[in-house]
Formats: sequence, C-alpha cells, structure tokens
Amino acid sequence: MPLFQTLRELNQVRKKYSDNSVGLVPTMGALHKGHLALIEKATQENEVVWVTIFVNPTQFNNSNDLKNYPVTLAEDVKSIHDVHPNIQIFAPSISEMYPQKAEANIYSFDGLDLVMEGKDRPGHFNGVITIVSKLFDTIQPHRAYFGEKDFQQLQIIKNWAKNNAIPTQIIACPIVREPHGLAMSSRNALLSKDIREEAGFIYKTLKRCTTGNKTKKEIYEEIEVAFNAHPNFTLHYALCVNEANLREVYEIDKSQQQRLFIAASVERVRLIDNIALK
Ligand code: PAJ
Repeated sequence: MPLFQTLRELNQVRKKYSDNSVGLVPTMGALHKGHLALIEKATQENEVVWVTIFVNPTQFNNSNDLKNYPVTLAEDVKSIHDVHPNIQIFAPSISEMYPQKAEANIYSFDGLDLVMEGKDRPGHFNGVITIVSKLFDTIQPHRAYFGEKDFQQLQIIKNWAKNNAIPTQIIACPIVREPHGLAMSSRNALLSKDIREEAGFIYKTLKRCTTGNKTKKEIYEEIEVAFNAHPNFTLHYALCVNEANLREVYEIDKSQQQRLFIAASVERVRLIDNIALK
C-alpha cells in the first residue's frame, strides 16, 4: 500500500500520474464507514485516488478536542487497503504541512462562516480551508469528495472553490449512520456504549421534524421536547436554514432547498447532524 509522508514524495508520485484522472478524499483519520463510502465513490470515478490523513491543528479551537482526537493510522491503512489495494495515502506530520507556525490563513466566506459551527468555533473554517487549499495545490485533484455530515463545511468549500476558480469538482456524499441512527463520526469512539446508542434519538428527532408539514415553530418545539427527554445532552443550536446561504428561513417551504441542523454535546463530545426538509 503506497503510504507517503512528505510533500516531496507526494509531488514525485503526482507527476507520475499526470495523465490520469485524480480523486482526493481529505480526512483526519480514525476512519469509519462514512469515510470509506467517500473513498469507494472516489475509486469508482477516478483512475488514481489519494486519501489524506492529517489531524489539522489549525481547525481546532479547543486544545482538549485536539489532544483527545483519536489517531488509528495502522487500522486506517488497513481499511483503505480493503477498499482498494492501490489507493495512495498521504499522512504528513504537522511540520510538513506547517513548516513555520501552524497558523490558518484568513478567508472571506460571504457570511457562510458566521452561523452554526463557524459561530460556535471561531476560526474553524479558516483552518479547514488553509489545509484543503494546501492539499488541492499539491495533489491537483480533478474531483474531491466531502460528506454532507459536515454540510456547512461542504458549502464553504464549494463557495471557496467557485470564488477562486479552483478547477476541482467538489462532490457531495450522503451521511452514513450507525445502526441506531447516530451520524458516524471519528469522535463517536469517545462516547460510552450506552450514550452512543441513546444519541440515535437525534436523528429520529430530525426525521420526525420532516414529516407532517410542520411549521418552523413546531420543529423547534419538537426538538426542545426531545432534548428535555435526554437531559444529559446539551443542545447548542437547532436551526432551519436555506441551503445556499445558510441563513435561517422565515418559514418552511418544501419547494425550496431547506435543511435542519443540530449541534449538541454529551460526555464532552460535540455531535452535529442535519437533514433535508423535504
Ligand atoms: P473528517 O472529520 O475526518 O471527515 C473527512 C470527510 O468525511 C469529510 O468530508 C466529512 O464530511 C466526511 N464524513 C465524516 N463522517 C461522515 C459520515 N457519517 N457520512 C458521510 N461523510 C462523512 O472533515 C474533516 O475531516 C476535515 O475538516 C478535513 C476536510 C479533512 C480538513 O481537515
């Protein structure tokens, strides 16, 4: 399995495949079935696939979150190998990606970063685009794959790619869930078994909110009732937004592209989820 750790090696291999279609799946490792679905799609659509594994320090606004972030490189390499034995893996060190100070560049996101995760985690999206931009520069992918689990991240990446005429197609992939409904996430490994099962109520609540032509007020009430029944979960926000600009909608309109987002914490782990309001 080709595993590279330096930009020098990466550049050499990239040159070798200059005539091939290239897909990129950026990750922070601790891979689960959500990541693997992106990797599978990338292998179906490209001749060469790069998976990057890098816990990017500049997108963490909480040092404990960074310190506790699960790292499972050997298992990750094996899972990628099981998808396809010839996927290129790039797992650099921090000093390789940030030879000077590990600092994010500052971007303008047309307001997409002022709500939800951007509001609760200042600077987070500057860190995400700093690393995604470095990876795009070196790998120059024709297609890059991102999950709808991080829908705000996806919209910000699409917006950045469009505004900067980045010649990479940004491909959105649906959310993969655990059997009880919790959206898969590397951080779920930090939850106790009981809480991980209980957290399935978040998706069940989201689904209930999409049924029966509920008004925005009814949706917010439904969520409040659900969280009151699970008092060890702290709700950070529940918001019905317009998918294009991520602004809160005035009213639910199923003919529009609207989506409901939730962020909550339990056992010091932040969980996010979302669903299309169709
Ligand atoms: P990470 O959280 O490792 O996620 C890597 C990719 O997998 C992201 O595009 C994310 O949306 C997707 N993903 C995670 N869980 C998923 C699920 N349950 N279903 C579908 N897709 C899922 O997102 C990041 O890393 C970083 O911010 C990164 C883009 C790599 C930049 O550092």
